[in-house]
Amino acid sequence: MSQQTVFITRLVPQKGLDLILGEPTIQAEIWPGELPPPREILLQKVQGIDGLYCLLTEKIDDELLDAAGSQLKVVSQMAVGVDNIDMAACTRRHIPVGNTPGVLTEATADLTLALLLGTARQLVRAAEAVKAGRWRTWEPMGYTGPDVYGSTVGIIGLGRIGLAVARRLQGFNVRLLYYNRRPNPAAEEVGATWVDLDTLLAESDFVSLHFPSTPDTKHFINAERLRKMKPTAALINTARGDVVDQIALIEALREGIIAYAGLDVTTPEPLPADNPLLSLPNATVLPHIGSASITAREKMATMAAENLLAGLRGERLPNCVNPSVYG
Ligand code: GLV
Repeated sequence: MSQQTVFITRLVPQKGLDLILGEPTIQAEIWPGELPPPREILLQKVQGIDGLYCLLTEKIDDELLDAAGSQLKVVSQMAVGVDNIDMAACTRRHIPVGNTPGVLTEATADLTLALLLGTARQLVRAAEAVKAGRWRTWEPMGYTGPDVYGSTVGIIGLGRIGLAVARRLQGFNVRLLYYNRRPNPAAEEVGATWVDLDTLLAESDFVSLHFPSTPDTKHFINAERLRKMKPTAALINTARGDVVDQIALIEALREGIIAYAGLDVTTPEPLPADNPLLSLPNATVLPHIGSASITAREKMATMAAENLLAGLRGERLPNCVNPSVYG
């Protein structure tokens, strides 16, 4: 293989970097900052590269692909979601795009459970009070929230991650409902019942979102659908921020249309400190940490490196989001 250049947009777990840096024919530049490269720098850094290893913080669009040049052979993203990438633009240029499905399923399901339980039981608010010296006594009615045990949980998007969440919830004796466009035969294994969306929204104590962000799913949870939920219900989102109309959600939380939200994802990310969501006592917001287990992040980094290397060799990516580039 002749000499090739790649740009890696952040320091990622070493196991992934080693795979790339161990290739004598590859000259890799790694953006060393804790924050993503600013757009204008990214546009410079990609000029003339053969491979791009990116994160969900980078917008990959026509402008960037033009800046990179026609020699670009592969875009490999260390994430399963690829809504930051203009897939049509990559496909038009016959550039395969890699992602990292599967390896973050369990970590994301763990975090979903943590967020669901934490939202119900006011974990963050309670811990903040202790830290701030506001633990004055044992309060008979302080920090009370709904039971997860024995509740009804509605999963929208019973795919890989939705199923992993459902499996965990079996231990909580919940009634599990799910909504997918088509029933998933694997639902039987977790005792989940396929219902229409209105039924799921009306009957669930917790509604958890597990579907990708696409133009079709933008603001899937909107004011009208929030109104169909129980006033005591919680919305849990570990998918993508823009599948929820956040303005409508803030209003719903303020007006008691629903009771709680647990969000690992928001619009925008990062969420500015003065966003109204952050002053609502009934919203728990996390900084997009669904896949942040050490093992999951190592596997994601490795998988993205394998996709990158395959693309540079002109081989089919082990995990390709736009396989139509192979004809
Ligand atoms: C994280 O959100 C991912 O898509 O991998």
